[in-house]
Amino acid sequence: MSVAARPLPPAILSEEHERDPYATYRMLRDDYPVHHDESTDIWLVSRMADLRALFKRKDVTSENYEFQIGQFHGRTLIEMEGKEHTAHRRLLSPFLHSGGLEDFVPRIRIAARDVLAPVVRREAAKVSGDLAGTIAREGQEAAAAGAEPRFDLVAEFTAIYPITVTREMLGVPAEMHDIVVRWYESIADAISNLEGAEEPYERGMRTREELREYFMPLIAERRGSGGKDLVSLVADADVGGTRLTDEEICAFISLVIVAGGETTDSAIASLFKLLLENPEQLEAVRADRSLVLDAFAEQLRYAPPVHMVLRIAAADVEVAGTTIPKGAKIGLVLAAANRDENKFADPDRFDIFRADNDTDRAFRASADHISFADGRHFCVGNSLAREEVEIAVGEILDALPGPPRFAADFEPGETGIWFRAPQRLDLSYDAAAA
Ligand code: HEM
Repeated sequence: MSVAARPLPPAILSEEHERDPYATYRMLRDDYPVHHDESTDIWLVSRMADLRALFKRKDVTSENYEFQIGQFHGRTLIEMEGKEHTAHRRLLSPFLHSGGLEDFVPRIRIAARDVLAPVVRREAAKVSGDLAGTIAREGQEAAAAGAEPRFDLVAEFTAIYPITVTREMLGVPAEMHDIVVRWYESIADAISNLEGAEEPYERGMRTREELREYFMPLIAERRGSGGKDLVSLVADADVGGTRLTDEEICAFISLVIVAGGETTDSAIASLFKLLLENPEQLEAVRADRSLVLDAFAEQLRYAPPVHMVLRIAAADVEVAGTTIPKGAKIGLVLAAANRDENKFADPDRFDIFRADNDTDRAFRASADHISFADGRHFCVGNSLAREEVEIAVGEILDALPGPPRFAADFEPGETGIWFRAPQRLDLSYDAAAA
C-alpha cells in the first residue's frame, strides 16, 4: 500500500486522539513522521532520531514560550538562549544539584509524610472503627466502621505533595498552600489551553497579577536578608554582573511553581496506575525498593507527563524529507518518540526490567527516553523530580499496611493531550494485613 493510501492520523484536538493518543502516535511514526496538524497548526515530529536532532539545531528556537507561557509567567529562562539562559538556569542550582539537593532531601521526606499521614490515619480508623477519635483529630468525615479503605491518591496526595515541596523551596508559609495550589492550577490550565478558550486565559492573567501582589513585598523583605530559601537567594544572586528585577524574579517563581508541580504530580499518579495494572511488577518493587527508580524511568518512557513540547522554525527546516516552513510551530512529540520501535523493543509493553531504557542514564540528557526533552532546555529539575518520586513511592508503600490495589468499581484512566495523567486514582489495600 502506498503512503498516500494510508489513513490520516486523527486531529490533535479530536476526541479520538484524546481517547488513545498512542494510536495517533503510531500512525505518525509509521507513515507521517512529519505531519501538519490542521487543528492546532502545528507540525508534528514523532520519531526519536528526528527529535534528538531537532532539539540540537540552532535554527529551531524556544520562542514559542513567549506566547505559550510568557504571557502568564513573564519572560523566563525557558524562552531564553545563550549566556542569558545559562545564567538564569544556574539560579536553581542551590536546590537542584548535588550538595543543595542532598540538604533539601529531609524536607522533601517530611513533606511526603505530612501529606500522607492524615489520609492513612483516617483510613486505618475507618477500618478499626475508631471514628470519633479520627473525626476529632482530623476534622474529617469517616465512613462506617469496617468499611473498605479507599482514597483518591491524586486528590489527597499527588496534587498536594509537589506543590508542598516547591512552597518549602520558596520559603512560602503553609497557610498559603491553597492559594499556591490555585495559582499553579490556573497557570497550568492556561498553558494547556490549546483551544484558546477565554475562561482559562483570563484566569491565568488574573493569577499573574495576584502572584505579583503577594511576592513583590516578600522579595523586598528578603533581599539582603541572607535567607536560604529560593526567593532570598534569587533576589541577591549575581546574574551576569547585575541583579534580577522584581518582575524577573516573579516570572522565575511563577515558572518554578508550575514546572515542578504538574509534572511530578502526574509522574507519581501514572507510576502507581501502571504498577497496579502490572501486579507482578508492583510486588517486585514492594519487595525491593531499589527498583523504584527503574519503575520511574520506565513510567517516564511509557506514559510521560509532558506529551509534546513546541519549538519555532527560525528558518526552513528539513526533517525526514519534508520542509517545515520558516516561522512554523513544530511539535516535538516526546510521548511518540518514547514508543519508537527503532529505539525500544516491544515499545507498548510496560516493563520496569527492560534493558533498553537504562535507569542510570534516565535522569541525564543521555537518557534512552526523551521525557525531560533534550538540548539547551533539558529539564533542569530532573534530579529533584527523581528524589521526590523515589521518596513518595517509598513512603506510600511503607505507610499502607497491605499491598495497594484499585478500589472496588474504580476504572483507572488518563486524560490530557499536552500534559497527560490520571485525573483520579481510587486506591484501597488489604486491610487484613494491618
Ligand atoms: C517528572 C517530572 C518532570 C518532567 C517530566 C519534566 C519535564 C520537562 C520538560 C519536557 C522540559 C523541557 C521543556 C522544553 O524543552 O520545551 C522541562 C524543562 C524544565 N523543567 Fe522540568 N520536568 C519535571 C520536573 C521538574 C521539576 C521538579 C522542576 C523544578 C523546578 C522542573 C523545572 C523545569 C524548568 C525550570 C525547565 C526549563 C529549563 C530550561 O529552559 O532550561 N521540572 N521539564
